[in-house]
Amino acid sequence: MSEDKHTTAARTATLILDGQSYEFPVLEGSEGEKAIDISALRSKTGHITLDHGYGNTGSCQSNISFVDGERGILRYRGYDIEELVEKSSFIETAMLLIFGRLPTATELDGFRNMLREQELLHEDLLHHFDGFPSSGEPMAILSAVINSLGSYHPDLYNITNQDEFTRAVAKVISKVRTIAAFAYRKSQGLPFIYPNPNKNYCANFLHMMFSVPYRLYEPPLGAVRALSLFLIVHADHEQNCSCSTVRMVGSSEANLFASVSAGVCALWGRLHGGANAAVVQQLQHLVDNKVNIKDYLEKVKKRELRLMGFGHRVYKNFDPRARVLKEAAHNLLQNMGQDDPLIHVAQELEDAALNDDFFQERKLYPNVDFYSGIILRTLGIPVQMFPVMFAIGRMPGWIAHWYEEFQGPAKIHRPRQVYTGPTRRPYVHIEDRAGQ
Ligand code: ACO
Repeated sequence: MSEDKHTTAARTATLILDGQSYEFPVLEGSEGEKAIDISALRSKTGHITLDHGYGNTGSCQSNISFVDGERGILRYRGYDIEELVEKSSFIETAMLLIFGRLPTATELDGFRNMLREQELLHEDLLHHFDGFPSSGEPMAILSAVINSLGSYHPDLYNITNQDEFTRAVAKVISKVRTIAAFAYRKSQGLPFIYPNPNKNYCANFLHMMFSVPYRLYEPPLGAVRALSLFLIVHADHEQNCSCSTVRMVGSSEANLFASVSAGVCALWGRLHGGANAAVVQQLQHLVDNKVNIKDYLEKVKKRELRLMGFGHRVYKNFDPRARVLKEAAHNLLQNMGQDDPLIHVAQELEDAALNDDFFQERKLYPNVDFYSGIILRTLGIPVQMFPVMFAIGRMPGWIAHWYEEFQGPAKIHRPRQVYTGPTRRPYVHIEDRAGQ
């Protein structure tokens, strides 16, 4: 496909196929990303594109977050992640993503009040937790209970106006934190601790996680700030696997609860939201077994292992979230007067990998998951809850994308395929199948 560089106002790309030329519009995003619009490719040429893993496919036009993987940039609605981490709170950032702009003080207060009103779960919903074994995976519980939550609010299955959308948002953002904390309490055989409306979003979550009926949890210095920062950097990341899942499910006009519950499932995998737990397990293995870092990297290079928390489909430079989280992990440990052998081995691993040809040639840098687990374990959050924490953080992004899909040109997502199976053949009766 050759691009016609002479047309500037409305550029086109020319595809020459079997000697015939076809023109396709070239679009340009606000940050200069260029895309060839092939919406009419099949109808014009009878061909489709093939793009395993969608690395070259734009599935939508979106104005929510911007990632420049080459330059290591992440922005939400135009604001740099580094600035949001420094100046914003998780709830303000959530409003920015979901409603499209930074809220006024009155809007922020109003939304915080809505979250407060929504923080409890319907008592009947609590019985759902009894149906899981105490060893039940918190991600399974989270996904199932969020989906069930929808059935308590059938009036919000079909959103018809902004007010209904805002009410649904407040329910999901507020209750996901309660569900997550209760999933943890269930796994520990501990009584549920009800939310405290006098605490802010992050402090309230830590309270539900760690208070006991006879002793209220007092977060150590820097803990609430570190949690807020963790949630902000996870809040959105354009069309990744879980976000695309939410958009795809939403494109069938499935409700918000069902769509974000599917996002939790997509996030669960080891190559996506499950990586933060895998990183800590990997670092712990290195520490416990006093593994030589160079020997370990040799195994990675021989493809015997993957270095978890390294590499990214989009970032071919340092993931800006990894930078922020690395500094935050050091600050939190210092504030809490603690040391963690895992942070030292992580630094050693990072230094060795970044100076190694294998990683340099493939542009493999630490990603968001490399240091995030160190923050979580310093906060006392157990490894099986790590992907759940990611899901709480990502919820505003999923909701914003679901709504963008909902408002956008309605089209069910339906990729095509290049079929490679058998061509038409006659049915074989069971007695004739031996030796097939
Ligand atoms: N360790 C070792 N080698 C790696 C790693 C890694 N972590 N990541 C990529 N590579 C190598 C691959 O072996 C491949 O080498 P080759 O070209 O010689 O075959 C090359 O780098 C390209 O790798 P791909 O798997 O094709 O890259 P892709 O963009 O498909 O994958 C992914 C990105 C899944 C994140 C990958 O880097 C990975 O598995 N990382 C570890 C898991 C992880 O940290 N996931 C979290 C990602 S961030 C997030 O989801 C929130």
